[in-house]
Amino acid sequence: MSLTRYAGAAAFMAVALLAVPLAAQEEGGELVQYHAMLADRFANPGWFFVDRGEALWKTPAGPKNATLEACDLGLGPGVVEGAYAQLPRYFADVDRVMDAETRIAWCRQELQGIPFEETAKKAFSKNRETSEMQDLVIYIAAMSDEMPIAMPTAHPKEQEAIELGKALFYRRASMLDYSCATCHSNDGARIRLQKLSNLEDPKQAGPVVASWPTYRVSHETVRTMQHRMWDCMWQMRFPDVAYGSDVTVALISYLTHMAEGEPMASPSLKR
Ligand code: HEC
Repeated sequence: MSLTRYAGAAAFMAVALLAVPLAAQEEGGELVQYHAMLADRFANPGWFFVDRGEALWKTPAGPKNATLEACDLGLGPGVVEGAYAQLPRYFADVDRVMDAETRIAWCRQELQGIPFEETAKKAFSKNRETSEMQDLVIYIAAMSDEMPIAMPTAHPKEQEAIELGKALFYRRASMLDYSCATCHSNDGARIRLQKLSNLEDPKQAGPVVASWPTYRVSHETVRTMQHRMWDCMWQMRFPDVAYGSDVTVALISYLTHMAEGEPMASPSLKR
């Protein structure tokens, strides 16, 4: 896969989607058609973020004035192609399982001298802006485009992460007494007009997981899986979950395991 074929992606118009009439959001409606047009792979604004991420990866930065090119994402130092499709995974150098985002933030600390906490603080941008992490993550994901998801499961800590993620998925808690399954284990469910995917079903979990990180039209920026976990936990009225925490990595491990074999399709385009 060559990124350059997308380099000249057509300019796009950022359209505010607030106050979109109901009919436009229905099957065949204007909003649905608009999404379909942007979802054409050459028109997806996500590719601009990919290009920025590639530049960030290769430009010296941080107190150590180093690039991220020596980062080991699991396939050896410097290998980015295919790495995202095989994450999360166990890393012996930290003796824990990391997802793509946690690993990139760790590489920034190790190679560039940027403290993990500093990366975490700025990881999620405001709407209509972006962050270095969002750019970097979508670049790394795009370098696995079309490759089947294959999270390794041989290490006991990888198995533990998947099991913990599964337990968390079904664990009801907080003031609403919701679990992830409350919203994500039914076919054809909707909440505030949005379709809710049934993540218990591998046929539905596959395309969902493979399409993160994504360009989120309503946010006019890229959103990552760590952001999605934070956002859903917020919706459940849980306390803010920490970026790169064991809880987020476990949930992402479980979801990724459910998506085994699905070809990566990021950047995608979502509501
Ligand atoms: C209160 C209901 C609710 C709960 C509980 C909930 N979510 Fe969500 N989830 C949503 C909504 C709403 C969306 C976004 C749908 C949209 O924007 O179209 C979403 C989206 C997602 C997506 C992306 C789906 C896609 O199509 O790309 C994932 C993955 C996800 N949730 C995982 C989780 C996990 C893991 C948990 C538990 C930690 C959880 N959710 C708990 C409501 C919920």
